[in-house]
Amino acid sequence: MTAPELRPKSWIDSIAPYIPGSSKTLDGRPAVKLSSNENPLGTSHKAQDAYLQSADDLSLYPDSGATALREAIGSCYNLDPARIIHGTGSDEILHLAAGAYAGQDDEVLYPRYSFSVYPLAARRVGATPVEAPDDDYRCSVDALLKAVTPRTRVVFIANPNNPTGTWITKAEVEKLYNGLPRNCLLVIDQAYAEYLDPECDDGALALAKNARNVLVTRTFSKIYGLAAERIGWGYACPEIIDALNRIRAPFNVTIAGQRAALAALQDQEFIQNSFKHNKKWRGWFENEMAQLSNAGIRVIPSSANFSLLLFEGMVNAETAYKALMDQGYITRWLPGQRLPHALRITIGSEQHMRDVARILTSLVRQAL
Ligand SMILES: Cc1ncc(COP(=O)(O)O)c(C=O)c1O
Repeated sequence: MTAPELRPKSWIDSIAPYIPGSSKTLDGRPAVKLSSNENPLGTSHKAQDAYLQSADDLSLYPDSGATALREAIGSCYNLDPARIIHGTGSDEILHLAAGAYAGQDDEVLYPRYSFSVYPLAARRVGATPVEAPDDDYRCSVDALLKAVTPRTRVVFIANPNNPTGTWITKAEVEKLYNGLPRNCLLVIDQAYAEYLDPECDDGALALAKNARNVLVTRTFSKIYGLAAERIGWGYACPEIIDALNRIRAPFNVTIAGQRAALAALQDQEFIQNSFKHNKKWRGWFENEMAQLSNAGIRVIPSSANFSLLLFEGMVNAETAYKALMDQGYITRWLPGQRLPHALRITIGSEQHMRDVARILTSLVRQAL
């Protein structure tokens, strides 16, 4: 008789590994990375100083409860710190949500063209990922509600969404919440919320204040410029936070990360500058790309720190991706997300955006 072999759980085999944005060209040259939606202005100097000063404490475990950081988040966003959970990036919190509320025989629902971690988080716990149709690259609340079954346990939406950059209104978020059964956790992933104009607030944090089945997630990786340190947070009712904390890894955010995030929260001038830079160059870039519509390039209006370009004419997305790569710019071509006709491009510095626009414009001219 042959000895039984070690095998991962059957559902683990079905996971397509997450593909991070690359920082080198195909032939190994260093390049400008416009593929991971990082902050082109870098990090607040105050956060950098707090990080560097933490070197003295390298031998110590961090505060497992991240008390000072949660209090600072609470005062910045006017939330009860006891209802905040911190994570190793908001990614961890998305995984915790699936882990606490879904499992085998359950469904995890999200719109088509969503953040690629949602199916991963579902499969990791043996649940079935289910996609609802989109509405021209935008989340359709009606389609999501139609796709709910008695097995649906978690619904993920990103608002604004990655990779489309589109967002849904407060009224649409409320409609989604009102239409969902109360035994279903609604996760509103606000990784890019700080890039929305203030009047476009989707009301998710206010909703989570009173709802018993809503979790909002945020990150320090985007506008706060701390992607390397892996810090995210979530806000929900005490029962949800308690459930997530039970399965959270202890000491999940480093001392340097906690202090850097706290300092970053207190440097709102840096956040304002990042917001203004993004708005200005996203607008400029989208306007430049609109000039290429006669060549079948369509820009999906974005509310985040990237733009999604659709190549629906004579130049295809792969050609554009390679032309940009040749000139030292790495963007995100998305065949793995069933968007082989699309490039997602992070809003970089002024120079980056001017270069990318010039390269794409000359590619189109050659094709015309
Ligand atoms: C929509 C969305 N949610 C969550 C994340 C995860 O961010 P982090 O784990 O760095 O907080 C990302 C990162 O790109 C994202 O695009």
